[in-house]
Amino acid sequence: MLKQSAKSDRKKMSEAGSIKAQLPKEGAKMQKPMSSLAFNFMRIIMNIRKFFRDFDKEIAFAEPKKGDKVVDFGCGLGFNTIPLAKLIGSGGKVFAVDISPKAVGIVKKKLKKHKLTNTECMLSGSIAEIEKLSIDVVYLHNTLPLIKDKQKALSEIDTVLKKGGRLSYMSRLGSRVYGDDNLSNQQLKEILCSEYHFKLIKDVKEHFVFLKELD
Ligand SMILES: C[S@@+](CC[C@H](N)C(=O)[O-])C[C@H]1O[C@@H](n2cnc3c(N)ncnc32)[C@H](O)[C@@H]1O
Repeated sequence: MLKQSAKSDRKKMSEAGSIKAQLPKEGAKMQKPMSSLAFNFMRIIMNIRKFFRDFDKEIAFAEPKKGDKVVDFGCGLGFNTIPLAKLIGSGGKVFAVDISPKAVGIVKKKLKKHKLTNTECMLSGSIAEIEKLSIDVVYLHNTLPLIKDKQKALSEIDTVLKKGGRLSYMSRLGSRVYGDDNLSNQQLKEILCSEYHFKLIKDVKEHFVFLKELD
């Protein structure tokens, strides 16, 4: 029985490896932010979709705590950034990262309006600059389909997360429409669980939380 399961684990791993190998490897530095027109279109869609989202519930799913360090990778209009900054409080830190200067500008204005000083906005297509093994939770919501170099992004997430840290992941229809939908949720789960040693700990309506496993 055990032998059988080890065999199927290995099969899964090699299948996941081949999925990983198929992911596009375009350098993140090469990725350009979307055009102004495309960004404004996305902004309209996001502003309509926000009426169907419960942001407090979305962020609470990965169980962030006061004082945590978190990353909002692809922060967009800051729908998750602002409630996160409020939740983790002055002892914590949010890194709000986006490749689009427009998005970063919008989030900066919102932070100022809400008098939040615990958030660092980073205009970047990557989170490699963040200290290794320092982050409690990475939020990757509705962004992976838009990221060109998905392998690099997943490796960076693995690198910055502490052991026992969590990745909160969702890619709703909107992001799959204006991004490239070449990675299914099933493939993502297989890659993260076999190549990066994450464990899927929550899965509700295609919102996933992955735990970076302890040794
Ligand atoms: C659909 S929005 C999602 C915003 C937010 N996470 C949410 O769920 O409301 C996706 C964002 O990802 C950003 N993005 C795309 N590629 C990126 C990359 N390589 N690095 C950082 N941000 C990226 C886009 O500029 C856009 O603002």
